[in-house]
Amino acid sequence: MPDRADYSEKIPNNVELHEDRRLQRALESWQPNFLSWWESMGPTLPTHDVYLRTAINVGRQGWANFGHVAMKDYRWGIFLAERDADRRIGFGEHRTEPVWQKVPGEYRAELQRLIVIQGDTEPASVEQQRNLGATAPSLYDLRNLFQVNVEEGRHLWAMVYLLHAYFGREGREEAEELLHRNSGSEDAPRILSAFNEETPDWLSFFMFTYFTDRDGKYQLGTLKESAFDPLSRTCEFMLKEEAHHMMVGTTGIDRVVERTVQLMKENDTEEIASFGGIPLKVIQKYLNFHYSVSLDLFGGETSTNVANYFTAGLKGRWMEDRRKDDHRLTEESIMVDALDPDGEIGQAEVSALVGLNADLRREYVSDCQSGVNRWNKILDSAGLSHRLKLPHQAFNRKVGAFSGIEATPDGEKISTDEWALRKGSWLPTEVDKTHVRSLMRPVHERGKIAAWIAPPRNGINGQPFDYEYVRFP
Ligand SMILES: [Fe+2]
Ligand SMILES: [Fe+2]
Repeated sequence: MPDRADYSEKIPNNVELHEDRRLQRALESWQPNFLSWWESMGPTLPTHDVYLRTAINVGRQGWANFGHVAMKDYRWGIFLAERDADRRIGFGEHRTEPVWQKVPGEYRAELQRLIVIQGDTEPASVEQQRNLGATAPSLYDLRNLFQVNVEEGRHLWAMVYLLHAYFGREGREEAEELLHRNSGSEDAPRILSAFNEETPDWLSFFMFTYFTDRDGKYQLGTLKESAFDPLSRTCEFMLKEEAHHMMVGTTGIDRVVERTVQLMKENDTEEIASFGGIPLKVIQKYLNFHYSVSLDLFGGETSTNVANYFTAGLKGRWMEDRRKDDHRLTEESIMVDALDPDGEIGQAEVSALVGLNADLRREYVSDCQSGVNRWNKILDSAGLSHRLKLPHQAFNRKVGAFSGIEATPDGEKISTDEWALRKGSWLPTEVDKTHVRSLMRPVHERGKIAAWIAPPRNGINGQPFDYEYVRFP
């Protein structure tokens, strides 16, 4: 397999697509549908070109090429990480057997389902973010948004390639459906509810890339372990792109907090809305919302489906090879969130296999905490005693053990009446959203930045902040 992508082809790829004419033709006939989806559902702000990175090489050394490209001419392609000819299944009942290069008939439906669910999230986020360009706080941020968007488009290509190459006619039909469902649509919404929420402002965008894209990172991490080798290799490469999306979220929130802190100190008050900033308590509310809806994406605390996926070798654990157990889990147990018999917030012991969603969510939660620690350092260095905090896992949940109750961010169970009364102090209210939206005025001038956010410390690919990251028609 060539390490370098073939760019002479209509569809850039490193999977020797030209050797399989049928597959090539099928994907080439999906390509115009993808492009018309991009035109109608992708970024709405007209641009001449954007300083983007394009994947050219999956090897360890330098896989990305940077340059100004018109977004509609972006070379979306198919890239799988290099194949390891000796790779063996790392978990489940087939552990130590060689990985699969074809889909075993008995797992076909499940694998297809996993790929469709992952695939559905990729174009969904492009749809959710389509209007953000009109209010970008700087050209640097605008460029980052578009980078995330084209890469989510490429992730759709990654999943569509698998559907076309390994799942026959049904796979091709699913690939069409991925373009027909739309975020927030009444008739044909995206599969997961967090992907039907709107991303109406840049604070939401940074929270989304921090919390919701991070869920994606963990899902991809479990699929990277898959015994179905093409899926594993696809996800491995997607994870490299995902790192940039995480960076956009992490540093985006850094910069909002930084600016908020400046305004608090300059004006000696927490109430900085009238000074053009986003108050810390509003940042906390956005954080509460995005974190809690992202926790829902991990599904219920116990799941027999997920136990079956693991046993079959379809979906592993985060960092499976670093786990110090038998990688089969038939004898192990795990504590998961649950309601006590008297309905109070508590924990229950379940078999490790059915508790795998909780295992993945635990990894995710501790990763999320690292961002919060980082933002709190900014507060601490400024001499402020305020702190940001992840809300309790029972807070604002629609999925899982706590979906039937209401709880405060501190994890105290409350009645629905009390929730209705107090939720405005924990989740963004119309007033908060209106204020945040009122700050969202475009700054499309080189080297300038909106007043509610601090400039980044570093530019992209060694370029300065005042670089012409985006050019307009
Ligand atoms: Fe993605
Ligand atoms: Fe992403």
